[in-house]
Formats: sequence, C-alpha cells, structure tokens
Amino acid sequence: MRLAVIPGDGIGPEVVAEGLKVLRAVAPDVESTPYDLGASRWQRTGELLPDTVLDELRQHDGILLGAIGDPSVPPGILERGLLLRLRFELDHHVNLRPARLFDGVRSPLAGPGAIDMLCVREGTEGPYVGNGGVLRRDTPHEVATEVSLNTAFGVERVVRYAFERAVARPRKHLTLIHKTNVLTHAGSLWSRTVEEVSAEFPEVTVAYQHVDAASMFFVTDPGRFDVIVTDNLFGDIVTDLAAAVTGGIGLAASGNLDASGTNPSMFEPVHGSAPDIAGTGVADPTATVLSVGLLLEHLGRADQARKVNAAVAFDLSTRDPQAPVRTQEVGDRLAALAGG
Ligand code: IPM
Ligand code: MN
Repeated sequence: MRLAVIPGDGIGPEVVAEGLKVLRAVAPDVESTPYDLGASRWQRTGELLPDTVLDELRQHDGILLGAIGDPSVPPGILERGLLLRLRFELDHHVNLRPARLFDGVRSPLAGPGAIDMLCVREGTEGPYVGNGGVLRRDTPHEVATEVSLNTAFGVERVVRYAFERAVARPRKHLTLIHKTNVLTHAGSLWSRTVEEVSAEFPEVTVAYQHVDAASMFFVTDPGRFDVIVTDNLFGDIVTDLAAAVTGGIGLAASGNLDASGTNPSMFEPVHGSAPDIAGTGVADPTATVLSVGLLLEHLGRADQARKVNAAVAFDLSTRDPQAPVRTQEVGDRLAALAGG
C-alpha cells in the first residue's frame, strides 16, 4: 500500500503518528510518504497545494490527513485552497462519516439507546462549490449570494452509494435529509433521485426528514437512523451533531471517497487542528485510528479493518472515563490490541 500522509497543523502530526502506528501493526506492507502541506508551508512559502504535489498525491492508493488550520491564517484560505481543493480535485464525492456509540463511551444524552449510523454526505457540490458573488461590497446595499449546485450526476452517484451501503447493513434503512419544503428545486432533484434509485434496492426501507426535524431527532431519538444521505452543507452540520451524541469529535472518523476508484480517497478525523492543545500530548488519536479503519475497508482489506475497529471498541469499553487521555499511550494500546 502506497500511502500519502498529510500530518498538517496543530494536533494533526500527533494523531497521525498514532494512526500510522496502528496501521503498521496490522498492515506491515505500508509505504508512507509525508507531505508538508498546511499553515506552516503557507506561512513559509505562500504555497497551499502546488499542482506538482497534487500530481504526486494522485500516485498513491490512499491519503491520511491529520488536520488543517491555524489561527495565524485568515479563515477561508486553507479551507478553500487546501482541504476543499483536495476534495474537489480528487473527486471525493462521498464524504463518509460513521457515528456509532461504542460501549463504554458516554453520550451527553440522558438515554441515548443504541446509536449506529452511517452518514453519507455529498462532497463535491452544494454551496461548497464557491458559486456566488458580492455586489456593492461595503455599502449598506451589499448583496451576497452562495448558490448551491446540485447535478443529476452528482446526486445520483452519492444516493446510489448510500443505497449500496444501506443494503449491506442489518437494518437496511436509508434516510434522506434535506429541506424540500423550502429548497424546492434541489429538494425535488434529491427526492426524485432517491425514489428512482430505491427501485433497484427493494430491500431498503426509505425515510425522509427535513434537516431541522432531523436535528431534533438526532438528540431525541438517534436510534431511528441507520444510513443517512444528504447534501454537502446539511451533511457538514448534522455530522457534527452525530459526533456530539456519540461521544464527541475525538471519536469521529471520516473518509473522503472517490467511490469510482479513479483517484485516491482521503481519510481524516472530523476534528480540527485544536491549536490550544497542540504539543501537550493529550489529543485523542482514536478518530484518526478509526479513519485508518475506513481506509483499510475502502482498500478491500476487511480483515485488517476489523482488527483496527475491534481494538478501538475494546479499548473504549475498558477505558477509565476519569483518566486523562495521553495520545501516545492510546496509540500504543491500540497498536498492541490490533496487531496482537
Ligand atoms: C469538515 C470541516 C470542513 C467542511 C471545513 C474545515 C472546510 O468542517 O470537514 O467537516 O466544512 O467540510
Ligand atoms: Mn464540519
């Protein structure tokens, strides 16, 4: 396996080191190449993602990313110029974000019940495309638009992916989350697409929730969800909520997939660079390790993925919730469990 590694900023390098430790414990054949991208490269050289680097990244089987972002960089620069550029250039149309409440993990909900959902967030369209503009800037009559792009091609491929995942799960249930009562143009495209593709998956039961109501159910009855499919922006928001109810961002993993397999997919913890705790060795690497699990699964290494996920499940079920997290200790433990 040829793996490109982008440790990034803040706690990124710390959690990535532990992710690689666990990966090597189950997959000794990994050849990893580090790429220096992120805030410090931008500060030093003004470069975000040179085309030559992008071409090199394309030569890999997968990409592992820590975190991007630093308070010294004005907002939007790294997001658009690096993270979103990677997702768009590499056609990462599926942003896969599982949210499962592991045994031993405390949810902030009083009675969470069993939570095991798989959010399939669209990754290359929606309001993220940067289709908009400003008129009469800095006047009292300023007008700003941010147009959400939804194509039949883009919606169909992510909806199809969600059905394929749903049919392979025990509950075989898929919920479309949107706001079809207000966003009638895009909403109609999403609803019709779900209806059409559902004909090919008669075993999958389909539900629909408006995003506002869904947000409420994430808190009051998260157990109702199995696979979720939604657009880029709704998916961004509800996956943070899903992470919150399943133990927080320290456990939330993600995969940015080119499901066609043309480009390497990219795996990253949902959390950011957390500059406030960088260098103190207290960041939980579990989200990165679970992202490594998604990488292995995506590359067809189901056995190795199972070992990584089982190590995390065991570790979480036996952790002392009072004991402070030490990044390297968690990584050592997970590597020993997964490799042993
Ligand atoms: C995420 C992040 C990104 C997003 C930002 C940093 C561009 O919030 O990965 O969820 O909105 O997708
Ligand atoms: Mn987000």
